[in-house]
Amino acid sequence: MSTQSTPIAAVILAAGKGTRMKSSLPKVLHPVASVPMVGHVVKLALDVGAAPIALVVAEGMENVVAVGREIAGEVDVAIQKEQNGTAHAVLAARPVLGELDGILLVLYGDTPLLTQTTLEQIIETMDADSKCAVAVLGFIPEDAGAYGRLVLADDGTLEKIVEAKDATEDELAIELCNSGVMAIRANVAWKLLAQVKNDNAKKEYYLTDIVALARAAGYTALAVEGDEDEVLGINSRNELAIAEAIFQYRARQKFMDAGVTLIDPDSVYFAADTAIANDVLIEPNVFFGTGVTVASGVHIKAFSHIDGATIGTNSTVGPFARLRPNTTLGADVKVGNFVELKAADVKAGAKISHLSYIGDASVGEDANIGAGTITCNYDGYLKYKTTIGKGVFVGSNSALVAPVTLGDGAMVGAGSVITEDVAGDAIALTRTAQTVKAGGAKEFRTKKSAEKLAKKKA
Ligand code: UD1
Ligand code: CA
Repeated sequence: MSTQSTPIAAVILAAGKGTRMKSSLPKVLHPVASVPMVGHVVKLALDVGAAPIALVVAEGMENVVAVGREIAGEVDVAIQKEQNGTAHAVLAARPVLGELDGILLVLYGDTPLLTQTTLEQIIETMDADSKCAVAVLGFIPEDAGAYGRLVLADDGTLEKIVEAKDATEDELAIELCNSGVMAIRANVAWKLLAQVKNDNAKKEYYLTDIVALARAAGYTALAVEGDEDEVLGINSRNELAIAEAIFQYRARQKFMDAGVTLIDPDSVYFAADTAIANDVLIEPNVFFGTGVTVASGVHIKAFSHIDGATIGTNSTVGPFARLRPNTTLGADVKVGNFVELKAADVKAGAKISHLSYIGDASVGEDANIGAGTITCNYDGYLKYKTTIGKGVFVGSNSALVAPVTLGDGAMVGAGSVITEDVAGDAIALTRTAQTVKAGGAKEFRTKKSAEKLAKKKA
């Protein structure tokens, strides 16, 4: 949370269709680090203490709104029917935001890498200067291309922004570009925006025009310089991959700085919300989906896929383990190779060492689940629960047909199909008794080799 007390409202522009993604999904819903890019922006707005937060979307983008609500709980929604430019888009939020105090932040839904530190710098810049009506995040890109250029006055303040299409030769030579991120003094925002005209190359209402309008009204404007990596706007799948790479690089550095060992950092992928304590060891080729929390001392072995799971202190997972959503491992749990867990609550000290599927289940403390044990949780229509008590021992290759309960201290003989509850400390065996015929194997071999010889001769 930000410490400043100025009220902040945020407008997140997300009405663009993003045709270059060539996708049926709105551009801002494509994920970076397993979270839709607009989700990163909503989270950032929350983190700097913005309330209200308004999302500007085009018609039919209910799925974008749903992501906003999932993250912020509450968002105001403005539908921009036609995309007539960035100023037009911000103005679309006026009816839902109403009169505001403090600062109005303008963010883009397709710019997910912006950091809280940089955004707070913009807010502080405005806070520190009561004459400043617009503070803009600028950056120096490798290639200025189509970006708007920030024209600075002699005193270093921001004079105006010119769009590349409307710029003179001299203006095009300016290196400092507009990221699009902007803070506007809220009590003049609507008044300034209402003055924006569309007499430009694109016949659009440019948000960037409010810099010159603010100055004409007697205010100043300021530019804050940020890093190109933070303001990468995503328009194509290629840029999506670049953003992912930047995000993952940052995440790997952050975790290593916090005391996590990554044997091969470049092969480990985190979600935006992954939480990992110190002294965790992660082997190569591990993927984290959303909603994962890993406690201290955990060892995650190579090629594991972990999604929506909580892993307790000193547990080991993998190699080749798959933890699916709503799985919780207590302390000192062992989940070994080729084990899949889904909605499994595995208590401290339990071991599921090899080749198992444990779904919709609870596994008691210190239980030992033998190799190849399967919880049969689904009958083709509905799912059912398996409850395995404390200290239970399940023999290898057993099928536990849910709903079923194994009481504390119960045992299941290898190869059993358990369809009924087993009481605590009882032993259940469902396989047929073994029959043995002395010399039978030798007899069989003699008979079969004779048959084979006869067939060859024929
Ligand atoms: C804008 C800036 C430019 C800056 C660049 C940075 C203006 C006029 N220009 O240009 O100075 O260098 O961003 O990337 O602001 N959007 C809407 N409704 C609209 C128009 C846009 O929601 O009617 C949204 C888009 O979905 C996008 C964002 O606003 O997320 C930016 O719009 P875009 O058209 O991409 O602006 P640029 O031309 O790139
Ligand atoms: Ca753009």
